This record gives sequence, C-alpha cells and structure tokens, in this order.
Amino acid sequence: MTDARLAELAARLPNLRLLTDPADLEHYGRDWTRRWTPAPLAIALPGSVEEVQAIVRWANERNVAVVPSGGRTGLSGGAVAANGELVLSLERMKSVLGFDAVDRTLTVQAGMTLHAVHEAAREQGLLYPVDFAARGSCLIGGNIATNAGGIRVIRYGNTREWIAGLTVVAGNGELLQLNRGLIKNSSGYDLRQLLIGSEGTLGIVVEATLRLTDPAPPSQVMLLAVPSMAALMEVFALFRSRLTLQAFEFFTGAALRHVLVHGAQRAIDGDHPYYVVTEFDAGEAAQDAALAAFEYGLDQGWISDGVIAQSEAQAAALWRLREGITESLAPHRPYKNDISLRISALPGFLQEIQALLGREYPHFEVVWFGHIGDGNLHINVLRPDDLSDSDFIAQCEHVTKLLAETLQRHGGSISAEHGIGLVKRAYLGSTRGEAEIALMRGVKQVFDPKGLLNPGKLFA
Ligand code: FAD
Ligand code: MLT
Ligand code: ZN
Repeated sequence: MTDARLAELAARLPNLRLLTDPADLEHYGRDWTRRWTPAPLAIALPGSVEEVQAIVRWANERNVAVVPSGGRTGLSGGAVAANGELVLSLERMKSVLGFDAVDRTLTVQAGMTLHAVHEAAREQGLLYPVDFAARGSCLIGGNIATNAGGIRVIRYGNTREWIAGLTVVAGNGELLQLNRGLIKNSSGYDLRQLLIGSEGTLGIVVEATLRLTDPAPPSQVMLLAVPSMAALMEVFALFRSRLTLQAFEFFTGAALRHVLVHGAQRAIDGDHPYYVVTEFDAGEAAQDAALAAFEYGLDQGWISDGVIAQSEAQAAALWRLREGITESLAPHRPYKNDISLRISALPGFLQEIQALLGREYPHFEVVWFGHIGDGNLHINVLRPDDLSDSDFIAQCEHVTKLLAETLQRHGGSISAEHGIGLVKRAYLGSTRGEAEIALMRGVKQVFDPKGLLNPGKLFA
C-alpha cells in the first residue's frame, strides 16, 4: 500500500477490506454508463456502521473524496470514481437486521440486493413492491439514494413511499437515525426524505427500515400492438378506467427488434410502431373487462393486435420483451435520457419532440421505451458505427439540450428515476429554479461541510 493516507486508514481499521488491485479499481470505479475512465484511489468494503463512520472521519482529516457505491447499475454516472476518490462499497453489509410483523417493516443493511429484499419480504408472506430489471444486481442503498422507480410505480409509487426509517452516516461522520420506522412524525423537517434521492451527496445510507405490504393479487399480463403515440395515450386511459393496473409499460418496434436479436421470442406477428405490456388484477370480471377494453380499442383503431398470457411462463416471456431492452441496447453504448412529464402533458410534448428529433437528427436511431403510465419515458440514442465517441457525445448533448428546453416548456423533468449524477448535471437548471438550486447547495453544505461525498455529482 504505497499511499500514506491509505496505509494510515488500514492501520486504523485492521479488519477493513481495502482493494487497490487495478482490476478492482476498474470494476468498482464505473457504473453502467461506461463513459468515464475509472481512476479511484482505492476501494473500501466496510463490514459495519462503525467502519463506515471511521472511513468518513478519516476522509475528512485527509481531504479524500468518497464515492458511495451500491451495485453500480446506475445510469447517470453517480457511482463513477474517475478522480482519485475512495470508493466506499456497501456490498459486504447485506444482512437482514429485523422483521416486525405488527409494524410490517423489514430492517436491512444497505448492501442487500433488491432481489434479496424481495425474497426476505416473501419469506414473511409480504411484499416489498419496488421492482425493476436490475433487481439482481442493484442494492437497496443505491435504490434509496436514487429514489428508484421501476415497473410498479403506477400501483405502488417510488422507493420514497416505502422507507420508514434510515440510518445514515453524514459527511462529517455523524450517525443519524432518521424517522425510526414511524408512520406519523410531525416533529420538524423530514431529513429521511431529503436523503432519499440525494445520490450519495449528503450521506451514506447504512441501514433502512422498509415498509412491506400484502402480496400483489393474482394478475394477468397482456401485450398490445398500437399504431401511434396518440393511440397509446387513448389505450392507457381506456385500460386505466376499466382495470386495476399493476403495470403499464411501453416500447417501440425498434426496441422490440433489439430484444428479439437478443433471444426473446416474438409474441405478436408483424411490425408495429408501439407496444404495451400491461399487468392488471385478475379475476373473471377483470378478464371480461380486459377483453371488452381490447375489443373497444380495436374498433376505435387504437389497438392493432394483442395477446393475453395464458400461463406464468407466457407472462414472463411477455415481460422479457420489455425488461430485456436495456441489456439488448448496451452493446450500442446508448446515450440515455430519462424524462418525466405530467401524463396530461405527454401528447403535446411527444408530438413536438418527435418532429424535432426527426428533423435535426435523422441519422440517429432513437429507441423509446419506459413507464408511460407514470409519464416517464426513456429515450436512448444509439451510437452509429461511423461516428467517433466525442462527436457522438457532442451531438447527444445537443439532443439533451433540445429535450431540456422542450421539457422546460412542458413543465417536465430531465430525470424521472435515474438521477442527475454526472450525465445530466449541466441540465439541472432546466428542471430546478436558481433559488431552488442555491438551497440545494446549502443543504449539501450542511450535511457535508467539506464537500467530500460524491463531489461533482448532481451539481457541476
Ligand atoms: P449505484 O449505481 O451503485 O449508485 C447510484 C447512486 O447512489 C450513486 O450516486 C451512488 O453514489 C449512490 N449510492 C449508492 N449506494 C449508496 C448508499 N448506500 N448511500 C448513499 N448513496 C449511495 N432505475 C429505476 O429507477 N427504474 C428502473 O426501472 C430501472 N431499471 C434498470 C434496468 C437495468 C437493466 C439497469 C442496468 C438499471 C436500471 N435502473 C433503473 C437504474 C439503476 O438500477 C437504479 O438507479 C438503482 O437504484 C441503482 O442502484 P445501485 O445499487 O446499482 O446504485
Ligand atoms: C428501464 O425502465 O428499463 C430502466 O430505467 C433502464 C433503462 O432506462 O435503460
Ligand atoms: Zn425505467
């Protein structure tokens, strides 16, 4: 260990796992964005809250920046360490600390995967309802730090709704117990909510008390082919009014082509511009209502074709068409946008932005998909083979600028669920006012006086 600061940390915490091998630096220094060259000082893998506190105190004494790190499935560069930071990975802290049947809460360390949280809830006959395709790799601490959304938001809301308490190490090493599992707590500012979605800039989430709920009722899954975005909005209104939706997700024909290349099975013949995967509470009445809605949609010309899953395996195959998109696009190193609008503002925005992109960037393959029922669209620009990395990024930055300007006019946000991180920090001002950003910076200063937690993320 050649760095004197690291040698000192190792001497202070003899049981701390510290990695400095180049392969580890590379592995832990990047997230899914793959845009920045990883260059951390070292990787610390604490095994206890006390070790996390000691690391943060040492970082304050030695002025070392710290990047809190979960499963690094983040899509905004939030967990990237490219400037000699210490990566503080929570992955060894992955135990269930307690379950309370009366409160219906599960208390866990921050390093449990989302999948492990699902399993732990299931073992108690209950549900932790936040869910999305990265469930096997992302960690609950990362989900909290990004206020993760996913495919069930339409029914259950974002991560924010499910956090009853947090234990956090602030930027000066102090331990904060935030809300302690209470349902009602009207005793001042709710700092727990401030931490949720703070992208590792205010504190390190070390433990969380999660609210659980009843298991979801039996459900049915349907795939619909839809001729236009305008029709898609009609289908959403139709299905939402007639069924109790658990999910309502969309993707384009272009997205489908990529998933099919990656081994998924086609479920509807022909090429269609748009598809919807919807899941809704099952039952005889629901089945009839779904078929009636489907037929009405066909008559109106809003639906071109559709299929309803007849088994769990078929339901999983339909979901794969939607959930496999991110991985199928990854080889194209897409530039990702993750935008949010009020649902009522979607049609006007879409009309404007599709015309704009078609006019200004006809050479780009733009793949649309996402959580249309939440007003959350993922707009992925694929990297053309004949464009250099720097030209591609420059052009995509311009696309994002156009998006940000259009979103601003329609009252939207440049990030719905992935966070600002490094990728979108130049556009924070399109979503938040100057006075609001000044207050956010003030909050950062209070929690992290020396600015050592995830510097350069969220704010430029
Ligand atoms: P990381 O990527 O490790 O970190 C994310 C941010 O949180 C960073 O800023 C990091 O510094 C901070 N952080 C991590 N742990 C802590 C901690 N303990 N304390 C404080 N700060 C911390 N996201 C969605 O919201 N919805 C989706 O539907 C969705 N689908 C996805 C599908 C795929 C296939 C992939 C690859 C990603 C998807 N994501 C989705 C994005 C990503 O999985 C989420 O943002 C997730 O919450 C990140 O968790 P993580 O543990 O990987 O965090
Ligand atoms: C999704 O909804 O699939 C995710 O947010 C991942 C992505 O945007 O690629
Ligand atoms: Zn998403």
